[in-house]
Amino acid sequence: MNAPLRLGIAGLGTVGASLARLVEARGDTLAPQLGRPLRVVAISARDRKRDRGFDMDTIAWHDDPVSLASANSVDVFVELIGGADGVAHESVRAALESGKSVVTANKALLAKHGAALAALAEERDAQLSFEAAVAGGIPIIKTLREALAGNRLTRLYGILNGTCNFILTRMEAGADYPAALKEAQALGYAEADPTFDVEGLDTAQKLSILTSIAFGTKIDSESIYVEGISGITSEDLTAAEELGYRIKLLGVAQRTDTGIEQRVHPTMVPRDCGIARISGVTNAVAVEGDFIGSVMHSGPGAGGDATASAVMGDIVDLARGVRVPPLGRPAAELEPYRRARMRAHEGGYYLRLMVRDRPGAFAAIAQHMADAGISLDSIVQRNRPIGTAPKRGTERDQPVTIITHSTTEEAIRGALANIEAGGEVSGRPQMIRIEAL
Ligand SMILES: NC(=O)c1ccc[n+]([C@@H]2O[C@H](COP(=O)([O-])OP(=O)(O)OC[C@H]3O[C@@H](n4cnc5c(N)ncnc54)[C@H](OP(=O)(O)O)[C@@H]3O)[C@@H](O)[C@H]2O)c1
Repeated sequence: MNAPLRLGIAGLGTVGASLARLVEARGDTLAPQLGRPLRVVAISARDRKRDRGFDMDTIAWHDDPVSLASANSVDVFVELIGGADGVAHESVRAALESGKSVVTANKALLAKHGAALAALAEERDAQLSFEAAVAGGIPIIKTLREALAGNRLTRLYGILNGTCNFILTRMEAGADYPAALKEAQALGYAEADPTFDVEGLDTAQKLSILTSIAFGTKIDSESIYVEGISGITSEDLTAAEELGYRIKLLGVAQRTDTGIEQRVHPTMVPRDCGIARISGVTNAVAVEGDFIGSVMHSGPGAGGDATASAVMGDIVDLARGVRVPPLGRPAAELEPYRRARMRAHEGGYYLRLMVRDRPGAFAAIAQHMADAGISLDSIVQRNRPIGTAPKRGTERDQPVTIITHSTTEEAIRGALANIEAGGEVSGRPQMIRIEAL
């Protein structure tokens, strides 16, 4: 039996404490599989006195994660503090500089500094592993980097934020957006300031990491088209249900003729497809490739134990001596990210308009669509059939939903601008992209 693999864990919060408990419980029993036991030999957090649910007495305490990261007593540095910069970044860099392998769950750090850190790891002959950084417990990094490596991937899409999926699931069941958000906050699924989750920024960070591995490009989290769910209403959920769709906040990365699309937005997906059935805080990622066809993983996207499970998977690989380039290919071989213009995006669209109840309004809208070369799949006036006259005295703006055939973002935006300028509608039209699945 070889000497134990000595772990230093910085950050003992939700994930770090779960990981320490997991190593305490399984560090020896895993030894026959790994050829060596696992030991936590050093830890760091802010509050030394707090009970973390594992025995800290025999473990060296460091007030400073950077000193832990470069300690000679540590073989692997596990960063579970969080944040793109500051002490998380400094300590990860310090560990790699000293030739230590790093395991982290930190998507913000990877999204911002991933390519540079991967290059540093390779330069120092160290490993940088981050399975837990995307979709919590779901082993999607390993799947993309290793299991699907033989494929030319064409598209991946996923529910990467449990908070948004919980809110949309509750809205499907009849809650309005504020009530669903409040419930998510009460259950601890959403922060007091939910902006980062509900406006799609968390999904975008995770997507940028997946895109890099799937398409062999440098991580580029700045060029992602991002729209969150805060503008989705109960009317949209009801209309989606009636039309045979569900609404999900998807992160999508897709190879196109003009580059790679990276987009995060509320998306209509056919009700009977796999991703439509993912409810609550569960995450899912689907990947499409030329030999695999399509494959989908689903499972817990957050939570201390599920995330610690993914961190442990990385540690197990290190104990076994598995070596892989962090982003699937050597950092020097990563291509620059070539962004596909969002305006060139092609797909179907759902539109919800409040049409002014006056003669010729529908004809004018149809004409604007036709002028933009958009053909309509369906048009539903929600209070009464199209073309029937309102009862005398009940004239008011009418909610209308339109589903288009595949068109471009450019065309749809142009048509909507003309419709708004023409005064046929009141308020801002709602527009939700339909993903062909
Ligand atoms: N929670 C999840 O479900 C989840 C899922 C996937 C990925 N992640 C990622 O995992 C990482 C950790 O998340 P978490 O939820 O476990 O966070 P957390 O509960 O807030 O824990 C953060 C830990 O970092 C420690 N810390 C903060 N600043 C420090 C400093 N300057 N020096 C030393 N220690 C410091 C804190 O110490 P004290 O405890 O003393 O305050 C705490 O133990 C993040 O990158 C997060 O994005 C989390």
